[in-house]
Amino acid sequence: PVTIFENPKVASIKVANRIADLIRKKQSENAPAVLGLATGATPVGVYAELVRMHKEEGLSFKNVITFNLDEYYPMQPDADQSYVSFMNKQLFDHVDIDRNNINIPDGTLKLEDIPAFCLNYEKKIAEVGGLDIQVLGIGRTGHIGFNEPGSAPNSGTRLVTLDDLTRKDAARDFGGKSFVPTKAITMGIGTIFHAREIILMAWNGKKAPILKKAVEGEMSGEVPATYLQMSDNVEFVVDVEAASLLT
Ligand code: F6R
Repeated sequence: PVTIFENPKVASIKVANRIADLIRKKQSENAPAVLGLATGATPVGVYAELVRMHKEEGLSFKNVITFNLDEYYPMQPDADQSYVSFMNKQLFDHVDIDRNNINIPDGTLKLEDIPAFCLNYEKKIAEVGGLDIQVLGIGRTGHIGFNEPGSAPNSGTRLVTLDDLTRKDAARDFGGKSFVPTKAITMGIGTIFHAREIILMAWNGKKAPILKKAVEGEMSGEVPATYLQMSDNVEFVVDVEAASLLT
């Protein structure tokens, strides 16, 4: 289903409330809440609202375990552009999460160590009972995580090559496209699919053409987000501008 909101702010608050409800429900069961998280501009408002709920309403993250979708490769965690820095700045530095419960693909690995790391990432997700909620944005190539066109629907966590358009869209953060890494480590489409709930968010008219393809287009590896059409657990949370081309 597609839910259309007036603007990203109200949509983000809705998504943050769903996450907070899950965290509290799991707390009452003395169980961990396992969150799959995304970076980028799209989820910023969700994280801001979660931080507000922590500060003003006492929402605790003590029982939260997180797995981020992806990280550039190579990437030092303390670099400004790393997804580690992003998550610290947007969420983790401002809440009471146990640092040991944070998982983000490691951009510093030696090439030969990546396959074992990726298998272990999948294993760790399984060991804590799987992802309760996976939050997604969508790239203009149709990627979810960094699963670019050509990704298989059953793909797992792995090293991938970024699309030229994805690197172009990241150029501003890096001071030019040539400084954007050509690779990334990402959860696979299969990994994402195992989540019990999937929320894909998209704001603004720039995402309207790809959102239309993702929701209404024929399912194909050309637009990896179309694979979400196969899932019964996915909700597209969008603003009016991103939804403007939907029929
Ligand atoms: C980020 C990620 C990407 C982004 C997508 C949209 O962890 O996996 O798929 O969600 O590139 O990025 P923004 O939100 O910056 O438009």
